[in-house]
Amino acid sequence: MVKNSKKYKSTGGWGFFAYDSKGRSLVKNMVKDCFSCHASAKEKDYVFSVWTK
Ligand code: HEC
Repeated sequence: MVKNSKKYKSTGGWGFFAYDSKGRSLVKNMVKDCFSCHASAKEKDYVFSVWTK
């Protein structure tokens, strides 16, 4: 995931990426393939994992 609030406005400011072993992109639709699920973590900036310092 890459943060860019201007470029990825429709997905909470995050760009979602996934690649196969040959480096081809597996993400055809960021909203449908990734954000549909990650939207449920809105209160944590769309990131599920939490790092404690
Ligand atoms: C079916 C729901 C679902 C979809 C669809 C989904 N994710 Fe996730 N993603 C999760 C969950 C749940 C976690 C947390 C997993 C854990 O903590 O073990 C996660 C974790 C992650 C993380 C680690 C950071 C974090 O949020 O904890 C990244 C990066 C990530 N997903 C990227 C993607 C990408 C890229 C896509 C689309 C190709 C995608 N996800 C699609 C549910 C989803």
